[in-house]
Amino acid sequence: AHADECYFYPEPASTILARKIAERYGFDANQVVVGAGTTDIIEMVALAYFEDDDKVIVPHPSFIMYPIATALMDAEMVRTPLKNWVVDVDAIIDAIDSDTKAIFLANPNNPTGTIITTSEMDRLITKVPENVLLVLDEAYSDMVESDDYPDSMTIIQERKNVITLRSMSKSYGLAGMRVGFAVASEEVVANLTRVKKPFNVTRLAQEAAIAALDDPEFIKKTREYLAKGRNYLYKEFKRLNIFYVPTETNFILTVMDSDEKAKRCYDYLMNRGIITRYMGNWGVSGGLRITIGLKWQNERVIKAMEEFLSRS
Ligand SMILES: Cc1ncc(COP(=O)(O)O)c(C=O)c1O
Repeated sequence: AHADECYFYPEPASTILARKIAERYGFDANQVVVGAGTTDIIEMVALAYFEDDDKVIVPHPSFIMYPIATALMDAEMVRTPLKNWVVDVDAIIDAIDSDTKAIFLANPNNPTGTIITTSEMDRLITKVPENVLLVLDEAYSDMVESDDYPDSMTIIQERKNVITLRSMSKSYGLAGMRVGFAVASEEVVANLTRVKKPFNVTRLAQEAAIAALDDPEFIKKTREYLAKGRNYLYKEFKRLNIFYVPTETNFILTVMDSDEKAKRCYDYLMNRGIITRYMGNWGVSGGLRITIGLKWQNERVIKAMEEFLSRS
């Protein structure tokens, strides 16, 4: 298909793309659902599974779509804390009860950039009852450097109650196109498909995603770029005495010594055309999340932060 064929509707279920994804990861096409971003699939999970007496476990802070999807169906959100900037598996295990319907787990997590390790994931999975859905949101998985990152594609082969979500927004750089997908058991995929809107992914987005999957070189370059940017920012944050959480993603959570300072720093950067994410209103007092950008962007954010610190 080409851009000039956009007077046609898209494939209603992104069939060609879904087949490609299935082949890539060694599954059947009926084990894949494609969405307009992972966000769309998180909504499908809520529509397909949640009812108003259900409890949904959501670590906090994490991705904002989980509370939104939970509220959409009037389900009850049970927040669990992080521990040392990492999702606390014990807090999740303790929060599971007979009303629990699902657990959302971003691995790596946003906004901390940290991962749950293989052994922690194994420990969690053995404690999640079969009637509880475990949603493993791996939007940033292609960026992970750690060797201790669990292989969710193996997990879903063994567990029918686990869904893996992947995004084309991050490592493939297609955020504006809106493509994400879920891989799970046939049964889970059938449930999601029941609530999926037809034509949810545009024709252009499907084509872009198919082309992107054929370009593994791009991911390699993304990873190289990220590693350079990450190392540069770590070095500069250390020099400027800015606390940061080591990341497995394309953003770094910095934490200032006061929340008021983080807010002022956010404004200072914004006034200079640099958009960061202030996290004080999302469970991280003093938190400012900085995205790793291109070399000149990284240099510019450091220069502005240095100026801010010298004036405050
Ligand atoms: C953990 C996590 N999941 C999903 C998303 C959304 O991804 P998508 O663009 O695929 O909807 C984000 C974006 O910030 C995220 O941080």
